Amino acid sequence: MINGGRRLCGEVDISGAKNAAVAILPAALLTKGRCRIENVPDIKDVNHILEIMRQLGATYEKIDRNTIEIDGSGVKQWVAEYEIVKRMRASYYLVGALLGRFKKAKVAMPGGCNFGERPIDQHTKGFEALGAKVSLQQGMFDLEAEKLCGNAIYMDVVSVGATINIMIAAVLAEGLTVIENAAKEPHVVDVANFLNSMGANIKGAGTDVIRIMGVEELGSCTYALIPDQIEAGTFMMAAAASGGDVLVKNVIPKHLDAISAKLVEMGVEIEEYDDAIRVKRSGVLHKANVKTLPYPGFPTDLQPIVVTLLTTAEGTSMVNEGVWENRFQYVDELRRLGANISVSGRTAVIEGVSKLMGAYVKATDLRAGAAMIIAALMAEGTTRITNIQYIDRGYEHVEEKFGKLGADIKREKMEDEEC
Ligand code: EPZ
Repeated sequence: MINGGRRLCGEVDISGAKNAAVAILPAALLTKGRCRIENVPDIKDVNHILEIMRQLGATYEKIDRNTIEIDGSGVKQWVAEYEIVKRMRASYYLVGALLGRFKKAKVAMPGGCNFGERPIDQHTKGFEALGAKVSLQQGMFDLEAEKLCGNAIYMDVVSVGATINIMIAAVLAEGLTVIENAAKEPHVVDVANFLNSMGANIKGAGTDVIRIMGVEELGSCTYALIPDQIEAGTFMMAAAASGGDVLVKNVIPKHLDAISAKLVEMGVEIEEYDDAIRVKRSGVLHKANVKTLPYPGFPTDLQPIVVTLLTTAEGTSMVNEGVWENRFQYVDELRRLGANISVSGRTAVIEGVSKLMGAYVKATDLRAGAAMIIAALMAEGTTRITNIQYIDRGYEHVEEKFGKLGADIKREKMEDEEC
């Protein structure tokens, strides 16, 4: 429940990156040693992947809220059934990790947010190039290799998941693997740095070409995750949306360049520090056109949030979704709050309105859920958001963080809540 209209002011600490965590935790299974991972966000997706790893035989200890020590020495099996992976897209990283370690893996096809078709052909192509036989039987992704051998792999589309998955599998392959047209997202670099700290030999992560020289084994390490680019962008846009003044702390400002530039274009003031960004807005919001693209472009995961911000900007804005085929499902919810948006294919046209009005809305997925929070902060009156389990998948203690900035937000259990 959110009572809108409050300016957000103060400081917020950004948590570790979800999309790095969900790859790095399974990648820790590549070694029989212990990996201590710091700055792990306390979110449902992390707890879920840990539970899957526990069911595979790994043990873990939570040293504190954000530090986890993983011991993969007890993992003896390479099969993850549908029942345990169904809620989580990122469980596909188990394929790379189990294939790398055991040279075989059997993992059910993943679930996750629904943005239209979510193919895995680039993952398959990479694993096959490394020498694995891949088949899909009764919804299970089944892979087996006598041994994995390095190879040159040209990605037909820029895929974060496939780049990371191939990298994870290739670190223990024989010889050199070269991934061309690789994804360059900050969490791709983070996974490479983590693997290198276990003893892998990966060069070029963060560029279009990643070179992985296989090593015989990996060992224990201690590693701290990078801050979450998308959570940081969410709070930056929330500050702008509420006409507030917020210092977004524990960030890597370089990762936020595309977001800062767009906010400046909208008339928002941005001040950059070494590891923080101050976002302040006192004037009106200007219209803007946005196209989402792989990094370093504007992130698709902030698309629902930037659309929300533009609902009250002066003039007509256009947002084009360049990554997913169907990521405007939340627009109906914004319309309930009075937004004037039309969608045609991958483009949304947003006519700025003078204000949004509180209403009952639902989170249709993780980032759309965060967009509903921001819309509710902007709206006059009370907004009730249901299906907030989506938001809990990826945002750590969300109502605490917004509450500390002055938002009137509380979590309630509703009798009629949809599941
Ligand atoms: C990751 O998904 C993120 N998830 C997503 O964030 C994010 O939206 C996406 O990257 C793009 O940045 C995780 O990291 C867990 P992709 P991923 O493979 O890896 C096509 C969030 O909100 N494609 O980069 O699954 C695909 O259809 C989540 O935190 C193929 O054609 O995305 C899409 O159009 C939601 N074949 C494009 O590539 C493949 O084999 C990018 O997908 C793989 C992908």
